[in-house]
Amino acid sequence: PTSYTARQPDNSFIAKMKASGRNIVVFYGSQTGTGEEFAGRLAKEAVRYGMKGMAADPEECAMEELTQLSEIDNSIAVFCMATYGEGDPTDNAQEFYEWLQNGECDLSGLNYAVFALGNKTYEHYNEMGKYVDKRLEELGGTRVYVMGMGDDDANIEEDFITWKDGFWPAVCEKFGVEASGSDASIRQYNLKEHDDTLLPEKIYTGEVARLHSYENQRPPFDAKNPFMAKLKLNKELHKAGDRSCMHIELDITNSKMRYDSGDHVAIYPQNDSVLVNTIGKLLGVNLDQVISLVNVDEDSSKRHPFPCPTTYRTALTNYLDITSNPRTHIFKELVEYTTDESDKELLKLLGGSTPEGKEKYNKWVIAENRNIVHILEDLPSCKPKLDHLCELLPRLQCRYYSIASSPKIHPTSIHITAALVKYTTPTNRINKGVATSWLSLRQPQPIPNGISHNDGEIHEPKVDYPSVPVFVRKSQFRLPTRSQTPVIMIGPGTGLAPFRGFIQERKYLKDDGKQVGDTILYFGCRKQAEDFIYEEELKDYIESGVIKMYVAFSRDQGQKEYVQHLLERNADEVWKLIGEENAHLYVCGDAKAMAPDVRKTLEVIVKQKSGMSEQEALNYVKRMESQKRMAFDVWH
Ligand code: FAD
Ligand code: 2AM
Repeated sequence: PTSYTARQPDNSFIAKMKASGRNIVVFYGSQTGTGEEFAGRLAKEAVRYGMKGMAADPEECAMEELTQLSEIDNSIAVFCMATYGEGDPTDNAQEFYEWLQNGECDLSGLNYAVFALGNKTYEHYNEMGKYVDKRLEELGGTRVYVMGMGDDDANIEEDFITWKDGFWPAVCEKFGVEASGSDASIRQYNLKEHDDTLLPEKIYTGEVARLHSYENQRPPFDAKNPFMAKLKLNKELHKAGDRSCMHIELDITNSKMRYDSGDHVAIYPQNDSVLVNTIGKLLGVNLDQVISLVNVDEDSSKRHPFPCPTTYRTALTNYLDITSNPRTHIFKELVEYTTDESDKELLKLLGGSTPEGKEKYNKWVIAENRNIVHILEDLPSCKPKLDHLCELLPRLQCRYYSIASSPKIHPTSIHITAALVKYTTPTNRINKGVATSWLSLRQPQPIPNGISHNDGEIHEPKVDYPSVPVFVRKSQFRLPTRSQTPVIMIGPGTGLAPFRGFIQERKYLKDDGKQVGDTILYFGCRKQAEDFIYEEELKDYIESGVIKMYVAFSRDQGQKEYVQHLLERNADEVWKLIGEENAHLYVCGDAKAMAPDVRKTLEVIVKQKSGMSEQEALNYVKRMESQKRMAFDVWH
């Protein structure tokens, strides 16, 4: 277990709370920012109840100090805990999770509450939240309010505001305090507008953290210090049809970044400049104004909401999420900037937690799929101050892609397979996925005159390769250690991505003279003539005996055919491989429908072919997972 003892005193959240008169600390286990955002909102709301809160990252805190929180009167620790992947803690909660598991400390006197964030369509729904809630009680803590269950597959914002409506009264009752009634908006950051005395080299132009880190690249590269990979190839994989899927190759030469087949690469994208300009126009703001947003609270470890000083344009392009459906608290804050009475009423309704408000939010924001730009367009009398809007919008997140290459074959290049996101909303607007649209515009460009030498020698044409900020994230999705172990890979659509890496790796081992077990791929797509991605190279692998492949075309005939139908048809082979030959099984792609359906089919196959009871078959499949003989790499 990791020890916290060597930490800097700076990590003492108790000292910080005492020094600044705080009694509420809201920790977040957050991977995509939602948990962090919820924590920030709770901490901010504490003033309404005469309390003072702060949001805190468990990774930056000496969490064993939870035993001392009772030294502060009327204190409480709240945990907004997200579950990531297959029931795992988020990266920033990993150490805290280990400490809780191993720790034998006495938490009596600790008041706490948990709000769990997760997605119901995953097997391990809200496992982290549930664990923290249970474990804190086991260690002697007092649960002040029942755990909230946030489901991102439905409407996690509604789950959160419903939970808050019960949580705050419970806190008030526990400490004998009352709501102050004031619902006034409280700014977290002050605006500072810089004039042209500020040197240009002091201004952030989109770096995630360190100023100029995109020009002065220094390893190690990670989430806070991405590598600027050159995009060497961006190729359409679909042969026909109106959808698009890209094969992209990123050059990681000299990055010292390593990856394994099955890892993920993260990409920091930029927002569409048309959307950014629309915000500037609608609000009548010069987007090239250089600003800083400075935390009102000097004790806060977060001085700025995003790297400052920077321009509004850079903030809206690189740092802020302007395409998701805004959460309810934003509507509440927009009211004061709105002149038209009916617009005002609508915003109040959307920002409240009444049943009518929730219904309206579900329809007008979620179902009709409005982002902040659509909202400003549809409510023309709503003119928020842009700096306030920048304070309220969540951070733009990096996007993850399953690496579609093997380092054995491509040690200095990372391949990805990305489906372009583009669709029409119910209000007849075209929404474009942030990262995939941005990537689709990034193509190597021949430099004019690059080959115009008349010296008789043949020169490579000069090409300008666009840069993409990336880092590698390790995963648990791994080929078996022994190459003889057979593998079954189930990956329809872009779910094929990591298996392209797996197949390259198996071929490498085979060419190297190793004994390699069966390598079986189940792929699915709509139509053979349209979206059968990597068809030719897969056929080559079949011919050279590297793989065996089954393909389901869902729209080439009257009846839908999916990968799980093929598995069912091949039940004998599937059971022989997993039941007798200890095969490893992998599922990649759609988390919502495909992965649960495939799991069910496997349970049926195991039951039918082994003679187990339904429960035994279920346990068998579960055990395959816990023994790492079965793994999922799935997403929404
Ligand atoms: P965004 O701007 O994020 O928009 C996507 C959102 O738009 C969706 O979440 C949904 O809310 C909404 N949306 C999309 N379509 C519709 C519709 N028809 N109607 C209404 N709303 C809609 N993707 C790949 O292509 N290949 C991969 O190999 C891959 N691997 C992944 C691995 C992991 C571990 C994870 C977490 C995700 C992976 N993804 C992969 C998904 C990828 O990270 C992005 O989510 C995806 O590319 C979309 O990003 P975007 O920024 O283009 O779209
Ligand atoms: P469909 O779109 O024609 O329904 C890759 O996206 C492939 O996965 C497509 O052929 C798609 O078929 C198919 N697919 C859709 N839902 C699925 C499910 N629940 N299980 C397996 N495959 C599915």
